[in-house]
Amino acid sequence: MTDQSMRGFLASLDRNGALHRVTRPVDPRFELGAVLALRDRGPALLFENVTGATMPVVGNVLSTRARFAEALDVPRDGLDALLQKALTAPVKPVLVGDAPVQEVVHDRAIDLARLLPVPTWFERETAPYITAGVIVAKDPETGRRNISIARLRLEGDGRIMAGIAKNHHLNLLAEKAKALGRTLEIAVAIGNHTAVLLGSQLYLGLGDDEYDNIGGLLGAPLRLARCKTVDLDVPADAEIVLEGTLDPDALIDEGPVSEFHGFYVNYGPGIGGEIRCVTHRKDAIFQTILPGYASEHCLLGAIAIGATLQKTLQRMIPAVRRVVITEGGMGRLHAVISMHQPKLGEGKRAILLAMGEVNLLKLVTVVEDDVDPENPRDVEWSLAARFRGDEDLMVIPGVKADRCDPVHENLTVTKIGMVATTRPGDGAALSRSEFVRAPHAVLDKVRREIDRY
Ligand SMILES: Cc1cc2nc3c(=O)[nH]c(=O)nc-3n(C[C@H](O)[C@H](O)[C@H](O)COP(=O)(O)O)c2cc1C
Repeated sequence: MTDQSMRGFLASLDRNGALHRVTRPVDPRFELGAVLALRDRGPALLFENVTGATMPVVGNVLSTRARFAEALDVPRDGLDALLQKALTAPVKPVLVGDAPVQEVVHDRAIDLARLLPVPTWFERETAPYITAGVIVAKDPETGRRNISIARLRLEGDGRIMAGIAKNHHLNLLAEKAKALGRTLEIAVAIGNHTAVLLGSQLYLGLGDDEYDNIGGLLGAPLRLARCKTVDLDVPADAEIVLEGTLDPDALIDEGPVSEFHGFYVNYGPGIGGEIRCVTHRKDAIFQTILPGYASEHCLLGAIAIGATLQKTLQRMIPAVRRVVITEGGMGRLHAVISMHQPKLGEGKRAILLAMGEVNLLKLVTVVEDDVDPENPRDVEWSLAARFRGDEDLMVIPGVKADRCDPVHENLTVTKIGMVATTRPGDGAALSRSEFVRAPHAVLDKVRREIDRY
């Protein structure tokens, strides 16, 4: 894949009629978010006339799995294999001199609200949030790089507040900086290629460099540019980059904020920071991702977490074929694992391992690989056809929960596993093993000629 920009994909969507241009004036305060919410899963939306803005805003770019495949230039059923390849065959990034993202440089008197059309999303939220900012930082002890997304709230002039989950690597880096009495340098890339967004969501080990897996997704080294004012490298083909620091000693109370389940949460204080330099393309496009329970937000997590969990489980249980984190489960909380003829008890083992690996998971269903784990109808069919409630249900109360879980009590939650697969021995019972169908020869002929009927 040669094009590493977001705008290349937007042009392709435009050619296919999947980019809708909104030409009427749209207020970035609530109105823009409302349009994205009401058009979730529709075409990507390019707002060309955002009130008070000097650049257009794009949203709902990746609101279906098919869009991810298209953006990464693979067929719809090739997405899973591409992600596995990106995890097993990473490609190191390369530094370049000609960075489109640095065509324009602002390095004094930064006023983010004036420079960028940052939306205010929901009624009870207190200020505008940048939601599609890919944050680059380095471990202050090891110098190893980390790339991830965290919401950034505008606090006036160049000041920001970052809301970061305590267990995320970015927060660990901020804590390390605090222990050393330092601030943490950050660069925030906005308007990214899909590979960069997806790479930022991979669950890797601390110190593993997401840029390498992004290269694996692209099938080429990611083009990086050296930042102007901080010791960090950013995707050269992004639309906009913010350079600055997080100050872990400067805590700012956040108040109510949306979470992926679609409710408000109040997590307390976030980390303050300051942006001192902004670079962008001459005709930059500001990318947003509708937060809350929205398809793009959920799918970015779902696809990346599913891929990393699949790789881990397959290493331990060869019968595992796919891991799908579902959209109804908010792209975080529910998984479907498909397995090929699992041995007795192997489905339960896969459930336990999955829950151990991904703290957020609380409902895991195991299905046979003769159904499509991405299709909720097939998954429910499996439950109806193969799940025996007395033996195949696991209910594990009182397990340590993630603070994001909407029904946790004292940070514990009940976890549930359901095994809806065939069992060794089922083959002997015709009613459980053999699907009704016409003879193979007839079926094959009809399948080949189906368009003629
Ligand atoms: C659109 C979007 C917004 C996100 N916002 C936040 C956020 O505000 N805070 C946070 O901690 N994680 C957020 N995440 C999740 C993290 O980016 C993700 O869990 C990542 O893998 C964390 O990486 P790290 O552990 O390397 O820091 C968001 C993800 C997406 C897709």
